[in-house]
Amino acid sequence: MDVVILLGAPGSGKGTVAAHLVAQRGFMLIASGDMLRDAVTRKTAAGVEAQVYMTDGELVPDALIGRMVGDVLREGPADAHYLLDGFPRTVAQLDILEATLAACGGTIAAAILLELDDDEATERIAGRRVCPACKAVYHVVAKVPQSDGVCDTCGTALIQRDDDLPETVAQRIKIYHQQTSEVIEVFAARGLLKPVVGTGGGAKVTERILKVLT
Ligand code: AP5
Repeated sequence: MDVVILLGAPGSGKGTVAAHLVAQRGFMLIASGDMLRDAVTRKTAAGVEAQVYMTDGELVPDALIGRMVGDVLREGPADAHYLLDGFPRTVAQLDILEATLAACGGTIAAAILLELDDDEATERIAGRRVCPACKAVYHVVAKVPQSDGVCDTCGTALIQRDDDLPETVAQRIKIYHQQTSEVIEVFAARGLLKPVVGTGGGAKVTERILKVLT
């Protein structure tokens, strides 16, 4: 088992390139935000606990998300290639990930850092629309669905995420800089960090990622 980690500020395009990478390279995707939103929708114990943090633009507790991601890794095939979108975001989460990988005989192959200016990330989020069913990501200008307000893939009505209000987005970006920079430094020190320019459209950014992964 090995994992490629996708790092980057809210709105930097992690979910968008993750969809491309899954389609082109067959990665098994673990997207921590999607997992949490599903848990909130289903009103599981983890979802109820997570909701208050997510609504405020804060990170959910490390143990909570660590357990959720760890369960998926432990239950998955031993020879899988995973793509982790949005996990780990703290050094404590990185410790949990490494302990899980050690128990499964897995390794971290690379950590991709999507680089994007905070203002551009904020603008992107303002125009984001998502499919609550299949999780496809759209944008009112950059990625318009064929039929207005409807998911191309599954026909579900598109929505705006609850945490995409401007003040919550500002808080999420602040938290990203405060809490995830240390994780980025750890990956850089280990030679695993692959910074990738996040501008230029999802297909272009994916091309850059595939280049640094080979
Ligand atoms: P999560 O869902 O992971 O959100 P995030 O990290 O804030 O990132 P986003 O989903 O907002 O953005 P993205 O980088 O995926 O961009 P996207 O591709 O959608 O987490 C949500 C919350 O869950 C957190 O705040 C926290 O509470 C909790 N959480 C999750 N993981 C956690 C963890 N590990 N620990 C603790 N708490 C955790 O793109 C954005 C828009 O831009 C879209 O409209 C898209 O169409 C457009 N776009 C994308 N790429 C391009 C491009 N190249 N050019 C033009 N437009 C583009």
